[in-house]
Amino acid sequence: MDWGMRNRMARMFKPRSGRTVMLAVDHGYFMGPTRRLENVGTTLTPVLPYADAIALTRGILRSSVPPTVEVPVVLRVSGGVTVLHEDLSDEAITTPMEEALRLNVCAVAMSVFVGAPHEHETLTALGNLVSEGESAGMPVMAITAVGKELEKRDARYLSLACRVAAELGAHLVKTYYCEGFSKVVEGCPVPLVVAGGPRLDSDRAALQLCFDAIQEGAAGIDMGRNIWQSDHPVAMIRALRAIVHERATVREALDLLETTKAAPAPSPAATA
Ligand code: R5P
Repeated sequence: MDWGMRNRMARMFKPRSGRTVMLAVDHGYFMGPTRRLENVGTTLTPVLPYADAIALTRGILRSSVPPTVEVPVVLRVSGGVTVLHEDLSDEAITTPMEEALRLNVCAVAMSVFVGAPHEHETLTALGNLVSEGESAGMPVMAITAVGKELEKRDARYLSLACRVAAELGAHLVKTYYCEGFSKVVEGCPVPLVVAGGPRLDSDRAALQLCFDAIQEGAAGIDMGRNIWQSDHPVAMIRALRAIVHERATVREALDLLETTKAAPAPSPAATA
């Protein structure tokens, strides 16, 4: 791996723990103004200092994130359909590599739809994007099992989807937690980060999901709704950081969550 590629990876995955807390705010690219993400800038500002990377589209990056931001950016470069379309897998690359370089991002991300009508197109697009990424020194994150594919989110399906993405050259893969997740990790030779999915019943449930994923070998999280749809997004992302980077237990993370809810946030530099 060339220096530029390694440097971009190291900016996302913190060298001390080798893991990452990515904050996903890219939902609008197919869902429109999702609850509590109606104004991305407003949602992002308080939690941004606690993210190791942010995942979004070029439109939101340009409109809602100041260019002075120090947090690395993972740029979603696929899209083209919305929740109103009957087939969410009908995606294509919507943002070229040249644009990702111009925006000085740390990685590009695209969805692949294994087992869906547009499996072939999205997988070959991943292969092509990886080839461009290798030339540019740009890591490519493959995102598996979005939308209807979520229904198939068991270890057998996710192992297949993640392995195929890695075989096509993805440098990291975003997937979902499932029972038997360690099997998914075992079969995937590149780092796996775990999305949260729709808001769970409680903050505790989201912390538990994160804990289980890390215990079973995830290299981090790329979580959205379970952070910014929480009533306490800053406390929540800080509790998740403790699990990901400090290997805190769920109990310890919950204690931190409660303490942080009650107290004003300290300077991010003083946190993990
Ligand atoms: C979905 O396509 C998006 O890529 C989201 O970034 C991803 O689902 C993670 O967000 P959440 O934790 O809300 O599921």
